[in-house]
Amino acid sequence: MIGDGGLRREEFPVFSRRTYMNSCSQGALAVSVRNAYDDYLQGLAEFGSLWESWVGVQERVRSLLARTFHADDADVALTSSASAAVNAIASCFDFSSGPRTIITTSLEFPTIGQIWHAQERRGAEVIHVAAEPDHRLPVERVDAAIDSDTAIVSITHVCYRNGAMVDVSAIIEAAHAKGVPVLVDAYQTAGALPIDFQALGADFLVGGVLKYMLGSPGVGFALVNPQRTSEWIPVTTGWFAARDVFAMDIYSFDPAKDARRFESGTPVVPSLFAAEAALNFLLEVGIASAWEVSGALHDQLRAGIMDLGGRVVTPLDQHGPMIAVAATDDHALVDALAEDKVVVSCRDGNVRISPHFYNTTGDVETVVRSLHRHRHLLA
Ligand SMILES: Cc1ncc(COP(=O)(O)O)c(C=O)c1O
Repeated sequence: MIGDGGLRREEFPVFSRRTYMNSCSQGALAVSVRNAYDDYLQGLAEFGSLWESWVGVQERVRSLLARTFHADDADVALTSSASAAVNAIASCFDFSSGPRTIITTSLEFPTIGQIWHAQERRGAEVIHVAAEPDHRLPVERVDAAIDSDTAIVSITHVCYRNGAMVDVSAIIEAAHAKGVPVLVDAYQTAGALPIDFQALGADFLVGGVLKYMLGSPGVGFALVNPQRTSEWIPVTTGWFAARDVFAMDIYSFDPAKDARRFESGTPVVPSLFAAEAALNFLLEVGIASAWEVSGALHDQLRAGIMDLGGRVVTPLDQHGPMIAVAATDDHALVDALAEDKVVVSCRDGNVRISPHFYNTTGDVETVVRSLHRHRHLLA
C-alpha cells in the first residue's frame, strides 16, 4: 500500500469531523469540487447567461471520462443519471420483431431490473440469472442463458448490496461469441479501480460520477462501442442528442453519429462543473493508486471484522472496494456507528463499508473499534 493511505486527505473537510467510509453511496466532497459549484454561481452572477462556456465544460467532462476509461471522446454520452443512460440504450431495441430476451442477474441495482422489466410492455422477456448463495455469479450459468433470442446481456460489475465482483470480461466474451451485445453497470467500480473500456470490449458501460468519482448527482454516462454505435438509434432522445445541437430543427430526427446520440436535454450544468473538478482530482491521484490503497484497507477491514467474529458476505477473491458485513439490524448498526461519527451505509441486511484513497489504516482501526463496541448488532 502507499504508506497508510490517506492520499490528499487534507483536501476533504469531512475528515476533520467524521470517519467517512461511505464512498459506495457518495464520494467525499473535496474543496476543489465545492469551489466548482461556486464558480458556476459566480459566472451567472457576473455574466447572466453562459451557454457557450457551459458547452465547454460539458466537452471537458466528456474528455475526462474518456481519459478515465481509455476511450475516445466520441464514445462518451453524458446523461443526467445512469438510469437515463440505460433508458436511452433500452429504447434502441425493438423487442417485438427482433430478439426479445434480456439476460440480467440477481445482483443488479434496482434501476437496472426495473428498466429492463419496463421493456416487457414493448415485447421483451427478462431472465435473471441467479448468483450462488455466496454471491458469486458463475459465468457458465450466464452463458447457458444466452441464445439466438437474446437481445442484450446486462450485468453489474460489482453488486451494490454485497460487494461481489462479476467476471465481466468472461461474460462479454461468451456473449460476443453468440453475437450478443453486453451492458456493464460500472457504478460501483467507476473511479475505484482501473477500467479500460477498449480492452474490456463492453458494448455499453454505464455509471455516474457521484460515488468513487467524487462528483455530484446529475452526471451519469454511457460509453458506447464505437464499432456498433451506428446500429443503435435511441428513441428516448432530445436536442442534445442531435447531430447539430444548435440546428434547432423541429421537422426531423437526425441523431449524432457518435455516442452523443444517447444524450437528451439540457445537461445538469452545476453538476458538470463539480464533475470537472472531481475528475481532474481523481486523475491527479490516479485510479491505480486509489485501488491500491482501498484494496489494502479492504483486506485490513476484513481481518478486523473476522477477529470480532463478524460475518463478511463479500467474496474473498472477487470483490470491489466495498466490504459488506451481515448485521442483525443493519439500520440500527449504521445509526450506532454514526453516533461514533463513523459514516457507512446499509442494504439488504448488510452494512457496507467502502474505503477510497483518502481513507487511512487509522480510519479502519476506528471503524473496527466502533463495530466492536456494537458487536451485538453483528449477525
Ligand atoms: C450499481 C448501481 N447502478 C445504478 C445506480 C443508479 O444510478 P442512477 O441513480 O444515477 O440512475 C446505482 C446507484 O447507487 C448503483 O449503485
